[in-house]
Amino acid sequence: MNPSPTTSPVYNDNAVRQFTIMSVVWGVVGMAVGVFIAAQLTWPELNLGIPWLSYGRLRPLHTNAVIFAFGGSALFATSYYVVQRTCYASIFLPKLAAFTFWGWQAVIVAAAVSLPLGYTSGKEYAELEWPIDILITLVWVSYAIVFFGTIATRKIRHIFVANWFFGAFIIAVALLHLVNSAAVPAGFMKSYSAYAGVQDAMVQWWYGHNAVGFFLTAGFLGMMYYFIPKQAERPVYSYRLSIVHFWALIFTYMWAGPHHLHYTALPDWAQSIGMLFSLILLAPSWGGMINGVMTLSGAWHKLRDDPILKFLIVALSFYGMSTFEGPMMSIKTVNALSHYTDWTVGHVHSGALGWVGLISMGSLYYLIPRMFGQKRMYSVRAIELHFWIATIGIVLYIAAMWIAGVMQGLMWRSVNPDGTLAYSFVESVKATFPFYVVRTLGGLLYLGGMLIMAWNTWKTARAGATVALPGTPTALANA
Ligand code: HEM
Ligand code: HEM
Repeated sequence: MNPSPTTSPVYNDNAVRQFTIMSVVWGVVGMAVGVFIAAQLTWPELNLGIPWLSYGRLRPLHTNAVIFAFGGSALFATSYYVVQRTCYASIFLPKLAAFTFWGWQAVIVAAAVSLPLGYTSGKEYAELEWPIDILITLVWVSYAIVFFGTIATRKIRHIFVANWFFGAFIIAVALLHLVNSAAVPAGFMKSYSAYAGVQDAMVQWWYGHNAVGFFLTAGFLGMMYYFIPKQAERPVYSYRLSIVHFWALIFTYMWAGPHHLHYTALPDWAQSIGMLFSLILLAPSWGGMINGVMTLSGAWHKLRDDPILKFLIVALSFYGMSTFEGPMMSIKTVNALSHYTDWTVGHVHSGALGWVGLISMGSLYYLIPRMFGQKRMYSVRAIELHFWIATIGIVLYIAAMWIAGVMQGLMWRSVNPDGTLAYSFVESVKATFPFYVVRTLGGLLYLGGMLIMAWNTWKTARAGATVALPGTPTALANA
């Protein structure tokens, strides 16, 4: 292998371009459904008496759309882009890469049809029924072949750390999907889990937590390690720390799942292990976060007028916040207060909107112009506007949920001197109303930002269409 290739190969960015665009499209769709279900929780009449539009069916549509369609497409796009540049190799089997694009879109459309129709396995974040699960498996195996094939054909010896994170994400998600989706079909679009009782719950939350750890974290850390140094034009702060970060994170995440099952029929020792590993998880999470933020050393001034860097760095601040909050919530006594309340939903969205959303948007803003032969996005001011609207939206969303959550937890455990409950459940629902209004408003702002991004993307693509034919590798992309 040549340690320092002198010519860069021609990269194939067809799939990158397609996934980039679809990430923006699915972002708008998934967040619009998020705003709608937030409004349904506030004003239940919005269920409209139509089963397909009922909250119970649209909620999994929201989670699937934002996690797998928006986040998933961003992960495919960035991993295909990064692995080519850092390996000095063109994508392995471009036709298979094209299959991953069309296959993944087919999975998303199948989800968008089957979930409102009421088909569900009942497992959170793994609701899709077995025929769709089989398609997911085919796409994922193809993804692994394309990604690792590109690494195997690399022209430089070193494998850049971002690829380790993307690679771990691909392998772990394959494992999680295969184990958790094991089921006995009982007809077309109907199946029963291969596990029963508490084992089923344990497998599900081993899956659920690692979906957070690998789908919502490791892959996005891959983005962080490539796009922050690129945008800041600075090397990774500590490359050594990035390697320690990688191994510590992937080892620890695997054991933390039981914190979702505190005070259940799961044996107490298993719950305690979940709590212990969650507390340990604080260290690698913050190590990585600090490594990302410190990459800006000597370039802090760039934050002032580079809105893309603002997205990337504020994403890390939210990452730090949610990975501090998570370990705290995993402490059993804290969880006794937070579980079942909107505090959990606040935690989820500080990670989802703040970390996953902002790091994806920052990385996509880096990619989009390069995919269309442009030097920058059509409107840099629109990126700035998007950043501020989104950030205010997140703050409104999570602050409302934190206050609502702690209030609910305190109301539920509050007792009169004679030991009877001080509040009925419905009183806590009623008290939550103003916070649901604020959450809906925060969601609307966040969605507004995404719409600005969609407009900006459209304008950039239109400008690019005149100088670079879609399907040809762009000059800038090779830079
Ligand atoms: C406009 C933006 C968004 C709004 C208004 C919104 C709204 C909501 C609402 C109302 C729920 C249901 C909460 C409940 O059951 O009490 C929810 C759940 C959820 N959302 Fe969002 N969401 C948005 C964006 C996102 C994004 C970008 C992601 C991920 C990348 C995400 C991930 C999730 C997850 C994982 C859940 C399930 C939480 C749980 O089970 O505790 N959301 N969202
Ligand atoms: C050190 C890292 C983290 C730890 C230890 C952690 C811990 C926790 C805990 C204890 C819960 C509440 C479980 C319950 O009461 O049911 C939870 C829920 C959740 N967390 Fe985290 N968290 C971490 C980071 C994150 C990040 C970065 C994200 C998103 C990107 C995230 C997404 C979620 C989701 C989606 C749930 C809700 C699951 C559900 O019930 O549907 N977490 N987390």
